[in-house]
Amino acid sequence: SVVVMSSDEGVSPTRPTHFIGQRDDVIRADRVVTSVNGRDVLVLHHQGALHALDARCYHAGGPLQNGDIEEIAGRVCIVCPWHKYKISLCDGEGVYQAVDPSVKPLKPRWCSKGVKQRVHKVTEVRGRVYITLNTSPEHLESDQYQTPKYRDTLHKN
Ligand code: FES
Repeated sequence: SVVVMSSDEGVSPTRPTHFIGQRDDVIRADRVVTSVNGRDVLVLHHQGALHALDARCYHAGGPLQNGDIEEIAGRVCIVCPWHKYKISLCDGEGVYQAVDPSVKPLKPRWCSKGVKQRVHKVTEVRGRVYITLNTSPEHLESDQYQTPKYRDTLHKN
């Protein structure tokens, strides 16, 4: 299920963290889409771990809150529901399967396209879940879908 929540500022102005919810509530919801400083972030629970990343897929803005989770070559990935791109939840790398045609028999192997999706930090303090936005200055492809136009689409999905 997907829950849309609005977030408060964190506990202290010196800590740029944003309260998402009580851990139990976040786990019960499984997936939460929230707006943090104007950015749409998906917080999701998978096998005891919480992850946060930009809510719209770096490829064409697909709604990642509706994606399945798969473990691919030892990495936990979300699979975008639109064109099945796979994104590593721990670092936002785009993961794809490649085949070297010169090696017979053909053996597909998983490769990385590099970091494409902005992944944010999740912290828990006494049963409360916070996220800290990843504000690294380099442009990541998922940044382009953090616009008012895409935000409206997100909340309609
Ligand atoms: Fe996500 Fe195309 S929009 S795979």
